[in-house]
Amino acid sequence: MKKIGVLTTGGDAPGMNAAIRAVVRTALSYGLEVTGVERGFRGLYEKSFVKLTSRSVSGIINKGGTFLKTIRFPEFKEYGIRKACYENLEKEGIEGLVIIGGDGSSKGAYYLYNDFNFPVVLIPASIDNDLYGTDCTVGFDTAVNTAVSAIDNIRDTATSHNRTFVIEVMGRESGNLALEVALACGAEIVIIPEVKIPYEKIVYLLKEQAEKGKISSIIILAEGAGRAEDLTAFLQKALPEREIRYSVLGYIQRGGTPTYLTRALATRFGMAAVDILLKEKHPYMVGIKGNEIIYTPLKEVISNQTSISEAHLEIIKRMAI
Ligand code: F6P
Repeated sequence: MKKIGVLTTGGDAPGMNAAIRAVVRTALSYGLEVTGVERGFRGLYEKSFVKLTSRSVSGIINKGGTFLKTIRFPEFKEYGIRKACYENLEKEGIEGLVIIGGDGSSKGAYYLYNDFNFPVVLIPASIDNDLYGTDCTVGFDTAVNTAVSAIDNIRDTATSHNRTFVIEVMGRESGNLALEVALACGAEIVIIPEVKIPYEKIVYLLKEQAEKGKISSIIILAEGAGRAEDLTAFLQKALPEREIRYSVLGYIQRGGTPTYLTRALATRFGMAAVDILLKEKHPYMVGIKGNEIIYTPLKEVISNQTSISEAHLEIIKRMAI
């Protein structure tokens, strides 16, 4: 291989820049040329290519978002579009592609390999931490920290006013972000798509906690498990004597300066991705298990689902006494 490409796709995640930097510098250290593809798979289609040097990635390890830009490109599901992308890669002389992205990107990466035998490797990057084959995705730690610090502020109001707050966090169909946020901010209740709780049960839990003297509470709701506005309306009706408010954290969770853990993970993944791309014919996703870098075949990644930590769920319950 003489030239590789790198792109970021799907929702941006803190640490994507650090991952690009590591990919570029690792590839250059092997004497490869590196082409950046702007705006993800769409950039492949539109031939938005840019030559990357070591200086192109200077000063970006600490920046959120992605300087290569990203976009959702559902058209990539169409074979004809993928074929045009593949032909553009060929014309550009790109012989392998590092794809930095989340769940949707894993499928796009696999199809590119499966249709055209094109060498790809995936670096999991998403605030949702919803990819099979890694304990942690690039950006997850930062998003948890950002959400926790926002909720710490909300807790001040909850405590001062004796209020109950429902806080909706992102995560798509996965409860991983909500669960870790709930654990770290000392939430009284967490509601995630994997373990739905009937709203009546939440009323019961709040009453039970109030009897023990808990007069303000934080309920973390994963966006995949319902809407904060609806749950708040239900709770307010059932508990008219309480003041219940909600807050949707939204995009505040997706940006910001990557934490040490995110930068370190992104850098390790970036190096590992180039190594495996050069070594293996089949496509892999790089990941981490414990503190070890692991490689999972992309086929396995797209055919399996992540699970949530039952142990963390149990700890949250036990702490809410
Ligand atoms: O995958 C990251 C994420 O932020 C999810 O948590 C959220 O559901 C989704 O992206 C929102 O995507 P978009 O910004 O494309 O609407």
